[in-house]
Amino acid sequence: MGIQIANEITCQPIRPTKSVPSLIDDVAAGLFSAQKQLPPKYFYDDRGSELFDRICDEPEYYPTRTEDALLKQSADHIIATVEPSRIIEFGSGMSRKIRHLFDACSKLECYPTYVPFDVCDDVMIKSGEQLAETYSWLNVAPLSGDYTAGLGNVPISAGRNLLMFLGGTIGNFPETEAVAFLSELRDLMGIDDQLLIGADRVKQPDVLHAAYNDVAGVTAKFNLNLLDVLNRELGATFDRSNFEHYAFYDPRKNQIEMHLVCMHDQEVWFEKLQRSLEFKEGEAMRTEISRKFTRETLEQMLLSAGFEVVSHYEASAHPFSLVLARPA
Ligand code: SAH
Ligand code: AVI
Repeated sequence: MGIQIANEITCQPIRPTKSVPSLIDDVAAGLFSAQKQLPPKYFYDDRGSELFDRICDEPEYYPTRTEDALLKQSADHIIATVEPSRIIEFGSGMSRKIRHLFDACSKLECYPTYVPFDVCDDVMIKSGEQLAETYSWLNVAPLSGDYTAGLGNVPISAGRNLLMFLGGTIGNFPETEAVAFLSELRDLMGIDDQLLIGADRVKQPDVLHAAYNDVAGVTAKFNLNLLDVLNRELGATFDRSNFEHYAFYDPRKNQIEMHLVCMHDQEVWFEKLQRSLEFKEGEAMRTEISRKFTRETLEQMLLSAGFEVVSHYEASAHPFSLVLARPA
């Protein structure tokens, strides 16, 4: 059963088609190991989603503004090209940028159903209500689930579906997982469906560095919030004040790495695992990678996943790509 609210926006839960590790599994495998790490999806509890939204407004975090402007410029072309009857957005978050597409839809008299897909139900419902207030024609039908848990149960209707994966979130997957995820999207799609993907591009390391180290410290709060998630969900005893946010750009791997570094020896008890974990002074756990692409590496990744590029829209001041692609 989904969550029913006053204006009838209901989140339909999507049953996984493959088993994915639970938080306990990920902690057991990822934190209780020599190279401590966790997948980034655990950032997004209510507080994490709110902090991510604040990051998007920080002056140093250019990706959101850049992609927003690019989407605004290309929205008419995208809608005229695809003429979607359905827009399915994976990792939709606050569904802010999508408004440019809906403006183009209103102008071009194309009235798709909007299907956000996210782990965060409350955010989808709240954003869906706001969208429905602006666009009287809009039907919002959210799907709730983990998009890494298999997409076989995602309902795809006849007609033209526009699948979207924005924000550069594809960069939060390592290459093999990114190609596997894109291939899953490809397998969902019919011949007339298209994918719109946003990806961040390589650029001056200091610009990248600043984007993940905003002066106001919002990214640091977002990173440290993960410890609160672990304390709450697993009965862990992390003392946040012992950890520091550390993010840097590795130009050999073309990726940002985000870490939490332990500043004092600490033993953390995990009630749900009935185990304790030792952190030594200076020891880091990796909480996120954020890969940056060249035009070529991005298009090559799409080719490897069975797509062909229809249009490649590029922002130049802070390089960023939006690619419209269809099944090859
Ligand atoms: N697309 C938005 C939000 C990006 S933040 C933008 O461009 O600004 C990443 C979003 O993906 C968050 O809303 C988070 O809740 C969602 N997310 C992260 N991992 C997910 C997963 N495994 N399954 C479903 N949603 C996920
Ligand atoms: C969601 N994702 C694309 C963001 C990024 O830039 O990799 C998450 C983020 N992490 C720190 N700041 C923003």
